[in-house]
Amino acid sequence: MKGIVLAGGNGTRLHPLTLGTSKQLLPVYNKPLIYYPISILMLAGIRDILVISSPSSLPMIRGLLSDGSQLGLNFSYRVQPTPRGIADAFLIGSDFIDGGPSALILGDNVFHGAGFPRLLRESVANVDGCTLFGYPVSDPERYGIGETDELGNLVSIEEKPLRPRSNNAITGLYMYDSEVVEIARSVTPSERGELEITDVNRAYLKQGRAKLVRLGRGFTWLDSGTHDSLLAAGQYVQVIEQRQGERVACLEEIAVRMGYISQESCARMAAEMRGSAYGRYLMEVAESLN
Ligand code: DAU
Repeated sequence: MKGIVLAGGNGTRLHPLTLGTSKQLLPVYNKPLIYYPISILMLAGIRDILVISSPSSLPMIRGLLSDGSQLGLNFSYRVQPTPRGIADAFLIGSDFIDGGPSALILGDNVFHGAGFPRLLRESVANVDGCTLFGYPVSDPERYGIGETDELGNLVSIEEKPLRPRSNNAITGLYMYDSEVVEIARSVTPSERGELEITDVNRAYLKQGRAKLVRLGRGFTWLDSGTHDSLLAAGQYVQVIEQRQGERVACLEEIAVRMGYISQESCARMAAEMRGSAYGRYLMEVAESLN
């Protein structure tokens, strides 16, 4: 399966933070925001990743991630000229997807939870139609919302409903079979002028091929689109990392533990960053694998 990180947008809700840099490069505690969604694709076993961003942000993101070989990954890059909607990712990425299954993750979503790597790998292996991930929220009118019947089957999906039928938000991680590009091509812009991912998901639901995996209470899902939520995400990561002594979304660690890179490569990158606590942590990881 191939992966797409949608990392564009104008970042207007984060002004003036995003006037001079890309939203996805802002820090969430000790690493750039985009590390978090990339870590999720890596943990899902996805190594072929397309990063889509705005004309001004893409060069900065490419400067950070380069071709991905340092992480045993293969990054490609495409510009989204204007934020035309999340489903636009499949029009921009159609040649990259090349008729296969794909996973899309939003560049501002942070996921963390016990057992997530296994759940991700199982989900990747079992996509038939689309697989969505639901998470309970206290402000459902801000999200795509999935309603389920008593058996847990999806019965409706609505984008930012005024009167939500459930508190089950559809998170910014989506897995699709090979039909997603064709479905995305059939979507027309919504009232807010965007190609809505919710309309793509509804098309799958109409065919009876949309599945919702609920992420339970033990999971954390944060978006970081506002000053408060960006700070909250950073504080969450700080608390977890300081308490456990382990890092969330440390890409080099994931790469070496997943077998994408050698212990020697990991040690080399760690040594280059040894001036920071992040680098020293990575040195310990590399030494423990010696
Ligand atoms: O975070 C999950 C929610 O993401 C879902 O529950 C909603 O169903 C889905 O529509 C979306 O909600 P938002 O409307 O709040 O997404 P937003 O416009 O903030 O875009 C999410 C990220 O994707 C953001 O970092 C910018 C980026 N983006 C967005 C659009 C519309 C792009 O790169 N290009 C775009 O065209």
